[in-house]
Amino acid sequence: MSTHIGATPDQIAPYVLMPGDPYRARWIAETFLEDPVQYNDVRGMLGYTGTYQGVRISAQGSGMGQPSIAIYAHELFTEYDVEAVIRVGSCGGLSDKVKVRDVVLGVAASTDSAMNVPRFRHVNYAPAADFDLLRLAAEVAEERLLPVIAGGLYSADQFYNPDPEVTSTLADYGVLGVEMEAAALYTLAAQFSRRALALCTVSDHLLTGEETSAMERQESFEDMIVVALESVVR
Ligand code: HPA
Repeated sequence: MSTHIGATPDQIAPYVLMPGDPYRARWIAETFLEDPVQYNDVRGMLGYTGTYQGVRISAQGSGMGQPSIAIYAHELFTEYDVEAVIRVGSCGGLSDKVKVRDVVLGVAASTDSAMNVPRFRHVNYAPAADFDLLRLAAEVAEERLLPVIAGGLYSADQFYNPDPEVTSTLADYGVLGVEMEAAALYTLAAQFSRRALALCTVSDHLLTGEETSAMERQESFEDMIVVALESVVR
């Protein structure tokens, strides 16, 4: 058991899909994995392991925000020897290059968080995705004709009231969506020489005010999980 995950080391697979919402972890396990076994309910942050096409895969909730995902990613990498974490989440579209329901493959994650200041002091480290995972995800999505687009994410510390001048400048610099976790995940994967990728369905759009219905969110979430799972087994 680690501090926040009540599993023995052998109960968690080397590849972990990580939604923010712990109920999504349960849904992934029950919908896509064979013989899923729940290994965690500490703080309600559900985690499951099962198999997909014969490959052991876990689904673990991260909670919202970088401090929360950092706790779970840190423990997965250091105490469960996890090789790769794929975040499967949502983001707000902030560029006219994306529309709701698209899936953003997060090449890199800019952030307004101070989490990396103690690590790098005055240097603005650039948290980036694992290239092989990113390439595989792009390949899978292309073959299945799923609407994905690769670009930057903005991992914001605050959900409400984003500064429109900042998000507009970020969009000008190739950032496609705002979410709250990828930068910490990418940084920790780099720290421990592991692999990470963030896939985010565009659930709402800051420019158009467009939102997805519950049904649309579910469908695009399913597409994204298929991309994540197929990338792992390939
Ligand atoms: N901001 C931050 N995180 C998000 C958003 C948003 O607008 N939409 C989905 N996740």
